[in-house]
Amino acid sequence: STEAAGPDDPDAPVVIGHRGASADAPEHTFPSYDLALEQGADYIEQDLQMTADGVLVVLHDDVLRRTARGPEGSCTGPVAEKTLDQLRYCEVGSWFEEADPDQVDAAFADLAIPTMEEVLDRYGPDVRYYIEIKAPDPDADMEEALLALLEDAGLGSPEDGSRQVLVQSFSADSLRRLRSLRPELPLVQLTRAGEPLDAAALDQIAEYAVGVGPAAADVDAELVEAGHARCLVVHPYTVDDPAEMTALLDLGVDGMFTNTPDTLVDAREDH
Ligand code: G3P
Ligand code: CA
Repeated sequence: STEAAGPDDPDAPVVIGHRGASADAPEHTFPSYDLALEQGADYIEQDLQMTADGVLVVLHDDVLRRTARGPEGSCTGPVAEKTLDQLRYCEVGSWFEEADPDQVDAAFADLAIPTMEEVLDRYGPDVRYYIEIKAPDPDADMEEALLALLEDAGLGSPEDGSRQVLVQSFSADSLRRLRSLRPELPLVQLTRAGEPLDAAALDQIAEYAVGVGPAAADVDAELVEAGHARCLVVHPYTVDDPAEMTALLDLGVDGMFTNTPDTLVDAREDH
């Protein structure tokens, strides 16, 4: 099944499939999301870039080189300078096998860069999405474009307080813009490793977000307590080591981003 049902206990920490199950399949491809859901992820994560012709596509980097391959010279450079038609010449599976020949799989051949619309079409309204606005450009209106896609997918107006869709960004400006456009959409402020998350910073974040996504190394009991005191969930990134997962669960985090959702499902069960 491709349905993310969520944990039986609605208060249990959530398993966020980081770029899908990206330890075992090429990140941000349908095989990676399929595998994350099979492994029991509660959310599948997307990182959004916008093409030159205004289409939201799912790719982590703002340039193509690391994960895209295609006809000579055609799949390098900034995504923002390519049209969707140009990106259709690129595939994003073979780099994964180049990096680790043990991971060769026929299912990884000829994988396209998905558009966000294609992801929503494929997985539908029952799967939970944890969507990052990766490189917001105030002139590109990525926020408006995302809200329109969510609306079309029936996911745009979570009046019931559902967290079916969470939108995350390192950019407070982007999150504040979303907040003003669609106040009911739950938002998560990401912070960079080492960035202070003191009381004043958390107070500001609590004005527009329901949670924080710190680097895992920055999380301690004090941060979890201070977040919870402001009704902010704490979702550290990116954790693949079972001992680190258990330590973070001990601290009371509300979920975490992982490249290996099955490991976190097990750690949560054993906790
Ligand atoms: O979105 C949480 C985490 O994914 C942030 O880091 O670079 O993997 O998007 P990055
Ligand atoms: Ca991300």
